[in-house]
Amino acid sequence: MATITCVTENTARTGSRFWGEHGLAFCIETDQGCVMFDTGQTGAVLLHNLALLGKTLHDIDAVVLSHAHDDHTGGLPVVLAQRLGLPLYASPDIECPRYSRKDDRYRYIGMPLSLTALAQLADLRLSADPVEVLPGVWTTGEIHTRPEPEGRSASHFVPDGEGWRPDPYQDDLSMVVETGAGLVVVLGCCHAGLLNTLAHVTCVFGRQPIAVLGGTHLISAAGMALQHVIDVLQETYPTLRLYPNHCTGLHAYVALAGVLGDNVQPYPAGTTLHFA
Ligand SMILES: [Fe+2]
Ligand SMILES: [Fe+2]
Repeated sequence: MATITCVTENTARTGSRFWGEHGLAFCIETDQGCVMFDTGQTGAVLLHNLALLGKTLHDIDAVVLSHAHDDHTGGLPVVLAQRLGLPLYASPDIECPRYSRKDDRYRYIGMPLSLTALAQLADLRLSADPVEVLPGVWTTGEIHTRPEPEGRSASHFVPDGEGWRPDPYQDDLSMVVETGAGLVVVLGCCHAGLLNTLAHVTCVFGRQPIAVLGGTHLISAAGMALQHVIDVLQETYPTLRLYPNHCTGLHAYVALAGVLGDNVQPYPAGTTLHFA
């Protein structure tokens, strides 16, 4: 049995006292423990929503970061202030500083703590390969094979010598949970691309996932690109259940639900999914 709770998301469950913010955090729980996947943008929202769920940071056995962007890592200082030495998993590329460009100005949107600080505050475990964080709870590792569209933003850059280059999103990883019902994939921002991530999981774990949750970054996909993703989902993963949120965008969510019907469900903060 695994339960996956959306702790922080752009939206909150209707009629609830959960707070929403542009960010993402999940608690992945099994009989073996609890993994926090991403920390949202702020510690305040993370702590508020955890309290409503009847949890504290002392219930967490490890943290995994999907990538460096601050809407996924902003809560980290609060987490580590309460849980010094907590195991912390991420891609080695998380060290690379990330920026967002607007009107020729570059704004820092990367990790809130340097790698040196992280190494002092956490039990830092960086790996480009899949890692089993708890029995049956894995990172995907970095996703290098990307023949399908990536989840890109035209405003995301990394420093390159004296200049800049588009963010390669090498750090992007997702989670895979082995449940009695099958493999469940949990996405952060999915900058590596939804179809690339699903294909990577199928290849590495030897079977297709039964469900995918989290940010699909289809917010920047439009027209033919979005239709292509939906066509492949329909043809290759016909029974896949989707709980898209965060950077999916309303347009893509409606398009997915319009074709895939009840296999697409919302997943706002405060929602717990059970996989027997
Ligand atoms: Fe994000
Ligand atoms: Fe991101």
